[in-house]
Amino acid sequence: MRILRFILLFSCLGISLVSFTDTNNAQPQDWKAPAWADTLYNPYAVEPLTLPQAQELYNLYCMSCHGNQGKGYPMEHTSQQVPDFKDDDLMGQSDGALYWKIREGKGVMPGYKAKLSDEQHWQLVEYIRDLSKPFNLQKNPFKTPNN
Ligand code: HEC
Repeated sequence: MRILRFILLFSCLGISLVSFTDTNNAQPQDWKAPAWADTLYNPYAVEPLTLPQAQELYNLYCMSCHGNQGKGYPMEHTSQQVPDFKDDDLMGQSDGALYWKIREGKGVMPGYKAKLSDEQHWQLVEYIRDLSKPFNLQKNPFKTPNN
């Protein structure tokens, strides 16, 4: 009985170690938005409720893959990796490029242009920019480390 308990304990430990060490290293991103997307800009005013509204959308549509703090979960059954929104190269892109990618999607990531309004896309761009900062510098008053 004892030995069984040991085996159980160690296999649980093993599994959790695997899931902790399986962090996805930011791969060089080869997904490029077309150059014209860089000329797009957010036509909507960024207001106090922009980030909280975007948070609701993000939690509903994006968090399952991108994670609460935008780090991204490892994906199964695909060679695609979910990028980390804190990655400098990723954040070096224009707002328009991020907006275009959310509209279009790629592979396992669906595009949202048929589902979300134009304004909601731009709200999400603001939200991702906010998530790219360390938690204590994020501006969304409703953001907690766990939600
Ligand atoms: C089913 C999983 C999944 C969901 C849901 C999802 N994404 Fe993604 N997302 C991905 C993957 C995987 C990539 C990487 C695509 C690639 O480069 O191959 C990605 C890439 C991105 C990028 C581009 C990052 C870069 O490399 O420039 C943005 C921006 C993004 N997602 C935003 C969102 C937003 C906003 C939502 C919700 C509205 C969302 N995603 C929903 C999986 C997902």
